[in-house]
Amino acid sequence: MKRRQALKSFISASLLSFIPFKNLLAKDECVTTDDILGPYFIEGAPNISVIAPEIPDVNRLFITGTLYAKDCVTPVPNALIDVWQANNEGAYEDIDYRGKIYTDESGNYAFESIQPGKYLNGSYYRPSHIHFKIQYLNNPELVTQLYFEGDTTLDIDPWASDPSAVDRIIPLTTDDNNNANGVFDIYLNVDVDTVNLNHYDRNDIPSRIESISPNPISEQFEIRFYNSTNALVTVDICDVMGRETKVLFEQKCTNKLHQITLNKPELRAGVYILRLSVNGRKVDAKRLLLK
Ligand SMILES: [Fe+2]
Repeated sequence: MKRRQALKSFISASLLSFIPFKNLLAKDECVTTDDILGPYFIEGAPNISVIAPEIPDVNRLFITGTLYAKDCVTPVPNALIDVWQANNEGAYEDIDYRGKIYTDESGNYAFESIQPGKYLNGSYYRPSHIHFKIQYLNNPELVTQLYFEGDTTLDIDPWASDPSAVDRIIPLTTDDNNNANGVFDIYLNVDVDTVNLNHYDRNDIPSRIESISPNPISEQFEIRFYNSTNALVTVDICDVMGRETKVLFEQKCTNKLHQITLNKPELRAGVYILRLSVNGRKVDAKRLLLK
């Protein structure tokens, strides 16, 4: 409840620029790399998104993201994401700390957990990590792992230190409740042709954010959003507590899919929330990472 209340307030951001659309990423450049399955995957995990029990004095971890096809911008709905991790003491359990999550119609997923503990792999500790296994229709599944910036054993871990893992090492932002927040967008090596695309010729599709790319953001980035009516559209950014909003884009827009390119806001690195409003009413939000 505290988090929800906090989301009503706001953050400082900067800038606003409107540049004709261009592709910021070449096709396939964004595809998320794989990692080892490890020995602790169990079929048939519970269909839950709160995968860790409450533990006294252990803060919660919130991970959110969007699943995209290999064009880097088309959301993949109704994909199955298995997540599993060690508990805070570095031990895997049969029931807890694992769950099956499905992406929503905009490709979004989210789960709540705790920071995984480290465990010994031979003579060294593996860095804190969360395992992912993602299945979409009959496409080959993606098995991978998520790591966290600042972890002191990233460099000695053969998998986390592999250059291909760099986009899977994310920063975490601590909110006022001492909960950690991270965003991990996942790019599947699947063709857009296989994705059940949104049909914007229907008149019952609500306005929403389609994609933010690239994400994490280091310079310019592109937003695609669908607007369902002729209206004043506002895109703003705030921190995970919903504070200090900064408007990035505000313009009358027609009812169609729009693509705009923005410069990176001058904010410190971390997790932020990009929000879409239509005629002053907030209609959608996605998380993003500023590098
Ligand atoms: Fe593991």
